[in-house]
Amino acid sequence: MEDTEAKNTIASSSSSSSSSPLFSFSNPNASFGFGFGFGFGVSSGPPPSPPPPPVEVFLSEESAVAAGELEPVVVDDSVSIYKGRASTSDVFGVKNSDLVPGKYEGGLKLWEGSLDLVKTLNSDIKEDRLLVEGKHVLELGCGHGLPGIFAGLKGAGLVHFQDFNAEVLRCLTIPNVKANLLKESSQERFTSGSVGFFAGDWSEIDSLLLRGDADLDKSINSHENNEVYNGYDIILMAETVYAVSSLPNLYKLIKKCLHYPGGIVYMAGKKHYFGVGGGTRQFVRLVTEDGAMQSDLLAEVADGSSNVREVWKFSFK
Ligand SMILES: C[S@@+](CC[C@H](N)C(=O)[O-])C[C@H]1O[C@@H](n2cnc3c(N)ncnc32)[C@H](O)[C@@H]1O
Repeated sequence: MEDTEAKNTIASSSSSSSSSPLFSFSNPNASFGFGFGFGFGVSSGPPPSPPPPPVEVFLSEESAVAAGELEPVVVDDSVSIYKGRASTSDVFGVKNSDLVPGKYEGGLKLWEGSLDLVKTLNSDIKEDRLLVEGKHVLELGCGHGLPGIFAGLKGAGLVHFQDFNAEVLRCLTIPNVKANLLKESSQERFTSGSVGFFAGDWSEIDSLLLRGDADLDKSINSHENNEVYNGYDIILMAETVYAVSSLPNLYKLIKKCLHYPGGIVYMAGKKHYFGVGGGTRQFVRLVTEDGAMQSDLLAEVADGSSNVREVWKFSFK
């Protein structure tokens, strides 16, 4: 699988405004691991085996696979995020595949949606629609973890990173977090206690994450009693809604882990993932049918590098 992530620049929005946060993302020079991104290169094979049990991965478990030069991803004049790279053949012994269901879920590549998400967070912070300082943040399906790292750079009090694969956390996410948030020269107040890394399937990972309430059934099903829950203030996720079968577990997890009533979710992804059936619109339909949260479209991205992408925000009604 060829990786062409080197020259990522997040173009500044020309059409965002405080009244309408919709923007148009146009950066024909940006190139990403999925080429045109119209679908997934999914390996065929036997049905996936049950997912490995959820585990916490510690900073000390960093792997040197991605050791080498870090590449800057320019967010704006004052912020760049540095990222490493690791190939699927080095880490998983898998070639020419973006995804092997139940084995490797795509976290080694930098996807376009994670940059759309960083850009949206940046403009929402600048235009006072989002406060990150001191907040507890969770990035689901993090891969490189750029949105979570960006939240850390913007003053989040705690950032947890989740990926299906512990290998992705060890080889990419942890080195990226160390390079950006925990570097020795950093004047920031980020410490190793401010970050956490968790691997596992969305159906089980809540046992390791902050939860909205101990009574899970109640927190899954409704918040209609107006009770106050703990959990994350902000949940971020990019390119996590491609597989229709995983959407219900993803949504249940969000409702378990999101702070009630003030928690918010930012989701970036493709409107439709051809070949695998999911997409942002499928997820929004699920949220709408459930009725507990409201959905707001923040951005539409049609830059020709993939099919149409979107950024959505969800909050409790
Ligand atoms: C396509 S990658 C996106 C990576 C990164 N967010 C980005 O945009 O560059 C999808 C991510 O979702 C995670 N993921 C997919 N299905 C999952 C599942 N059933 N349980 C837990 N994580 C899952 C993968 O580990 C992976 O990090």
